[in-house]
Amino acid sequence: MTEEQRQILIKAQQGEVNAALMYQRLADLVRDRKIAEQLRLIGREEGKHGSIFYRLTNEKLQVGDREAKAITMIYRIIGAKLTFKFLAAQEMSAAKRYAEVMDDFHEMVQIRLDEENHSGILEELSKKAGYRC
Ligand SMILES: [Fe+2]
Ligand SMILES: [Fe+2]
Repeated sequence: MTEEQRQILIKAQQGEVNAALMYQRLADLVRDRKIAEQLRLIGREEGKHGSIFYRLTNEKLQVGDREAKAITMIYRIIGAKLTFKFLAAQEMSAAKRYAEVMDDFHEMVQIRLDEENHSGILEELSKKAGYRC
């Protein structure tokens, strides 16, 4: 792998570990048990993605809470429905971003599918949820 590719993967790894924390924190804010459980499941998958990137980069990263803090604020302001909608779009753009490096790293195929799946789940949650859930 080139140094440039390694930097891309490290950045992606950081995004995944931060996203894992973000989904856990978001789940803590949600009172609907089923929705919270789905968010935790997504969070666990982001954690797995982080591990996959770790195997590629061999770089131990600290979990950052910037996204977790931001989502807490976003959730309080725009509510559940729009927060899930926003995250669905984020997941879709992650899937597209990962598609660009897919040819070089076969691991990206599954990760990309997972992100697309996350996007779909969040779209559904957005339809179901009200301002608060
Ligand atoms: Fe992910
Ligand atoms: Fe995701």
